[in-house]
Amino acid sequence: MCGIFGYCSFLVEKDRKYVCDVLCNGLARLEYRGYDSAGIGIDGDTPTSPLVLFKTVGKVASLRKDIAEATATPSPAQGESADPQKVDMKKVFLSQTSMAHTRWATHGVPSNTNCHPHVSNVLTEFSLVHNGIITNYKELKLVLLKRGYTFHTDTDTEAVAVLCKYVWDSQPHKRLNFTELIKTVIKELEGSFAFVFKSTHFPDEIVAARRGSPLLIGVKTDRKLKVDFVDVELPTNEERVDGVDAGGLLAVPNSVADGHGAAGPKLRRSQSRAFLSEDGMPQPIEFFVASDASAVIEHTKRVLYLEDDDIAHIAEGELHIHRLRRDDTVSSVRAIEHLEIELAEIMKGQYDHFMQKEIYEQPESVVNTMRGRVNFDTRQVLLGGLKAYLPVIRRGRRLLFVACGTSYHSCIAVRGVFEELTDIPVAVELASDFLDRRTPVFRDDVAIFVSQSGETADTILAMRYCLERGALCLGVVNTVGSTLSRETHAGIHINAGPEIGVASTKAYTSQYVALVMMAVQLSDDSILKTARRQQIIDGLHDIPAQIRKVLAMDKALQEMAKSMLAKEKSLLIMGRGYQYATCLEGALKIKEVSYMHSEGILAGELKHGPLALVDEHLPVIFIMTRDSLYPKVQSALAQVTARKGRPIIICNEDDETVSDAAKCIRVPQTVDCLQGLINVIPLQLLSYHLAVMNGVDVDFPRNLAKSVTTE
Ligand code: F6R
Repeated sequence: MCGIFGYCSFLVEKDRKYVCDVLCNGLARLEYRGYDSAGIGIDGDTPTSPLVLFKTVGKVASLRKDIAEATATPSPAQGESADPQKVDMKKVFLSQTSMAHTRWATHGVPSNTNCHPHVSNVLTEFSLVHNGIITNYKELKLVLLKRGYTFHTDTDTEAVAVLCKYVWDSQPHKRLNFTELIKTVIKELEGSFAFVFKSTHFPDEIVAARRGSPLLIGVKTDRKLKVDFVDVELPTNEERVDGVDAGGLLAVPNSVADGHGAAGPKLRRSQSRAFLSEDGMPQPIEFFVASDASAVIEHTKRVLYLEDDDIAHIAEGELHIHRLRRDDTVSSVRAIEHLEIELAEIMKGQYDHFMQKEIYEQPESVVNTMRGRVNFDTRQVLLGGLKAYLPVIRRGRRLLFVACGTSYHSCIAVRGVFEELTDIPVAVELASDFLDRRTPVFRDDVAIFVSQSGETADTILAMRYCLERGALCLGVVNTVGSTLSRETHAGIHINAGPEIGVASTKAYTSQYVALVMMAVQLSDDSILKTARRQQIIDGLHDIPAQIRKVLAMDKALQEMAKSMLAKEKSLLIMGRGYQYATCLEGALKIKEVSYMHSEGILAGELKHGPLALVDEHLPVIFIMTRDSLYPKVQSALAQVTARKGRPIIICNEDDETVSDAAKCIRVPQTVDCLQGLINVIPLQLLSYHLAVMNGVDVDFPRNLAKSVTTE
């Protein structure tokens, strides 16, 4: 749940200041993945001198400041020589490798010591940045401690750095190359990871590897590439040693001694050497390794996504990808893809925060979700990615929705419309709980995994669990190229554009729209449901304009947040039917960005407990837009007012039964199953304003990260 970034340039003259700026800019784009500390590691003055490290507790902005302060050397007075201790930012490199990390702590408190890059020893013979969790780090540490190695941090990652050193020390006579060494190390690891490794023994080389955490490589060069793909180098048969057993570490020197495993394999050369210029001459080239594309987009749009168990080696301007083990289900070609996103899309522009920008983007983002998929003239939906699977889905015994957080709420929001339109039983599961229960899954289940990032660990594990049991697995994902989008059988990209703010807003409405479209498409073989389908499609047509109308109420909502909610400790949000999801999502937004306690409550449950909370101090937001359950919500409202509760009512524009203008938020009316798309907007805006009023760093609420890549 961290962001990692690596930069490697070959025959490109750059000074140290430039390298630091590239690293910090890359980190700033990845900051949403974790932001409790940040660090970079750059080349020392000679190829073998120790890494220069800068580390800071806090955000990338503090790191930049610390680097500037640490390197600002007043020009030496005449006759004086420069301070040899100072890092010379003007030093120019022709080729260099460097790495950076922004952290969300899992093992060890946020501190300079626990901040990445981690190193094997003071000489920084091996250094690395890591995203993920090494679950067997304690065992590794114990074995390494017994062999006399020392540790200085509380992290799981340091064990990997020291393990590199151990493997290196274990074969003094027959040195492994960098890739072989990292392969040997990785075979010992359990858990999830994306790594960038550097070593003073292999100057100007970088090794990157992943298993379970995302990683991609951007390529920037003016040269004409001979190929737009990289052939993966598969291990030979001797190398097919799947990890080592509990005494694994003991196996390292032995395997070296008998010429097996670590030192033994004779690697097959890549079938094609990537990035050779047409005349075969070495030419300038830069590589950017990153947890996601937003960090490389300002440099290049050509990227290559690594698969689990890929080990990428960059040296002498070339990139080679090796596999840790043979897996015939994984392609042996990594294509260089062209990114479609623009830098402007991931910048804040005129807005104060990404969350605010993303709330305001919703009229466009929902259009992008529907673009080319909904024909408003013929009133039909066509989701190309699902077309071939429609008969199988329709025959499914159950639709199993699995997700976490906001994405889970979008599944709750559409449960009713799926049940109504498809007549297939629907289950909605929180990924973690679904896995905890080892829920029975069958071959004729259709499992739908919904995720903005496509990298949420629980959702990925749930998907793999369903794949193993033979269910058809579909992904509803925002991030193109993410693990979920690649490993599911088929799916829908919601096309909401990059979501940077940690609190999910536009992804929710786009997931909601995408799922409604899916329900509509699934039912298009039912004549009986034609009228309902057409009503929904007409409703979808008006949604962007209706969202815009609610956004125009922003000033009034800001005022309401200030006058009615800012000083409160707690808030309930109540509704039922389609609006239950809106209550849950509104409450989650408020608690995660404003830190105010807030609960979404099904109005039907009011009498079964929550009513006890109601008194003259507790604000309660009622979602009381018109649908078949309107009278029931009215009665819940009556019960709350009878107990002197303080309701704020979200109702339709023309609702005359609600009279107290000061306490109501009037929103446009749409079809019942789409009304949640409109009703959630004032709650997003209220949460945003409450957060700003409470002085919260809106895009980076404490303890959270955008992409939860650990269980
Ligand atoms: C809340 C929020 C989280 C995510 C959850 C799942 O605003 O963003 O609750 O929705 O962590 O993330 P994805 O959708 O990336 O799987």
